[in-house]
Amino acid sequence: MAPLSETMKNDLLAVLAPHGQEHLLAFWDRLDEVKRQTLTEQIRAIDFEQIERLYRNRRVQRKLHSSAVRAEPPAAFRLDASKNRFSPDQAKRRGMEALAAGRLGVVLVAGGQGTRLGFEHPKGMFPIAPVSRRSLFQIHVEKLIAVGRRHGVRIPLYLMTSPATHNETAKFFAENNRFGLAEEDLHIFCQGTMPAVDAATGKVLLEEPGRIALSPDGHGGMLSAMDRSAALDDIHNRGVEQLFYFQVDNPLVEVCSPEFVGYHLLAGSELSSQVVAKRAPLEPLGNVVAVDGRLVVIEYSDLAGDEKLVKIFSERSADGSLVLWAGSIAVHMMDAAFLRRMADSADALPFHLAEKKAPHIDQAGRLIEPTEPNAVKFERFIFDLIPAAENAIVVEIDPADGFAPLKNATGAKTDTPEHVKAQMSAQHRRWLTRAGAKVADDVTVEICPMFALDAEELAGKIEPGTRVTEPTYFC
Ligand code: UD1
Repeated sequence: MAPLSETMKNDLLAVLAPHGQEHLLAFWDRLDEVKRQTLTEQIRAIDFEQIERLYRNRRVQRKLHSSAVRAEPPAAFRLDASKNRFSPDQAKRRGMEALAAGRLGVVLVAGGQGTRLGFEHPKGMFPIAPVSRRSLFQIHVEKLIAVGRRHGVRIPLYLMTSPATHNETAKFFAENNRFGLAEEDLHIFCQGTMPAVDAATGKVLLEEPGRIALSPDGHGGMLSAMDRSAALDDIHNRGVEQLFYFQVDNPLVEVCSPEFVGYHLLAGSELSSQVVAKRAPLEPLGNVVAVDGRLVVIEYSDLAGDEKLVKIFSERSADGSLVLWAGSIAVHMMDAAFLRRMADSADALPFHLAEKKAPHIDQAGRLIEPTEPNAVKFERFIFDLIPAAENAIVVEIDPADGFAPLKNATGAKTDTPEHVKAQMSAQHRRWLTRAGAKVADDVTVEICPMFALDAEELAGKIEPGTRVTEPTYFC
């Protein structure tokens, strides 16, 4: 009888050989039992047929964007509400009713690898608050608790991590007593991964002799990860009907904005998106456009380098604004039944392919640190659900009231910690000034969501004429 490890190897070869991926076992004989087990699990978890198909069709993807030449501005609830179907007041009232009915949940995506910021912990742990130095996670959770308290309900949080951020995130929440969130209201689940393949050959890359190079499968991985982790079941069992979705990088987000929730419900939409008016055609935002009567998002990275598309997306109206104006800030309302339906349909979300740098070992076991993109990675994007959604809508917001993403390290031109802190302080300065306070120039201010969630709430708590002369955290 062949030794067990020989049988395991042969079984794996039978999986790999039809797809030309036998090289993954090149170092098998040198691996100890634990490493063989890890590699076996990794190989068993990969759908090699899917990888082969995706790689074979990699050039077809460009053609998907041929429809982008027919892009038109989306119908939208604009900031200038004069032509909107519903007024902001109507929307707000409807949103408040829904909040008070306790049928809302929140999804926060905090996975990925967060390489651009150069912060060595999960991005959500970044101490972004301008005075208190509270983390992004804490700010988000405090907003959620404050919204729940205002409406007399509990709002569950479904928090997505990635293998790179999972353990540290879970520990951070545990050590900080979940920032006040009840244990049964926090569901942390980890997104899946996809292997990186060699761009020239389609061969899956090894990161170490016994380990495949895997990377997060994009925030679209949320759909299957929520299914696997039973988050979708929990949503159903709790009677949650609508989900407010946002990204960890945006501390200005108005969590469960009643107005946004209200527009979504009044329109009978299955998936709604907040947008801002773009100032430049190539701003790093997804473009929400209508193509053949359906809403779609065209990523900024898909425009760059495509002259024809850049020209189309650069067109301006007589007033100077961009014709294709709507930039996605990745804040959505999602109908829970729609998500369930999409999770049950195998190919609800396409994969996007990106050429990236992936360190790996070669056939001699030497570590290669590429200086140019050498690998193809596969990611799904959650906004690709939009075309499948009934009555999808777009709601414009003023970025000053809801969008200041932390993307880049200090020194970059935009979206650095310094920019984000300045925008947070500016928003709270406006609220204080409106409440009648006198805030000295250049003084940084910060308001805890538990103290006041918005300008109206703050107005009831500040004596008109209050002078703020030094950095102050209102809590
Ligand atoms: C993203 C959007 C873009 C939008 C912009 C707004 C994509 C592809 N594009 O751009 O349309 O205008 O935000 O700020 O998302 N994440 C995961 N798992 C992953 C990858 C990412 O959870 O596998 C999360 C990250 O934690 C982050 C968010 O998704 O919170 C955005 O990812 P990022 O790579 O920063 O996207 P952008 O290129 O900034």
